[in-house]
Amino acid sequence: MEREFIMIKPDGVQRNLVGEVISRIEKVGFKIIAMKFHKVTMEQAEKHYAIHKGKPFYQGLLEYITSGPVVSMIVEGKEAVKIIRKIVGATNPVDAEPGSIRGDYTLEIGRNIVHAADSPENAILEYQIYFKDDEIQTYERIDENWIYE
Ligand code: RTP
Ligand code: MG
Repeated sequence: MEREFIMIKPDGVQRNLVGEVISRIEKVGFKIIAMKFHKVTMEQAEKHYAIHKGKPFYQGLLEYITSGPVVSMIVEGKEAVKIIRKIVGATNPVDAEPGSIRGDYTLEIGRNIVHAADSPENAILEYQIYFKDDEIQTYERIDENWIYE
């Protein structure tokens, strides 16, 4: 099973979209294996967004992600990264399809309410910034036999 790292960003929390985002992911069949409500430190933000260092939006991105509490989670399931990136929608709301989270709830690229890692490898690197191993739970969902054949 693949793991995906997801973060509901400060604007998602402020706009009361925490339940909505979690619900969409849960209902598809993904299993939540770790979750926390916390504030991203500047040090964590710099690690998380190291790939964007030097880009014009980098400083604003750090300020945005550290500006208030977020909800971080690790979820597990078949093709988690590909499917969750689809559920989240394109980075720029102009390109995000209706029905995706960003398509339904956002208007600006710099306020796109949710983050999802773009590869299984990056998911692991990113969730290690925010979670210790003993904060990750392994368990069976009772409906797994009805989600997977
Ligand atoms: P994310 O990492 O947040 O899931 O988003 P993503 O993969 O769809 O987009 P990415 O290219 O990784 O960019 C990370 C975040 O930086 C902000 N951004 N602003 N103003 C801009 O041109 C611009 N480009 C990116 C967005 O908040 C984006 O989610
Ligand atoms: Mg990204």
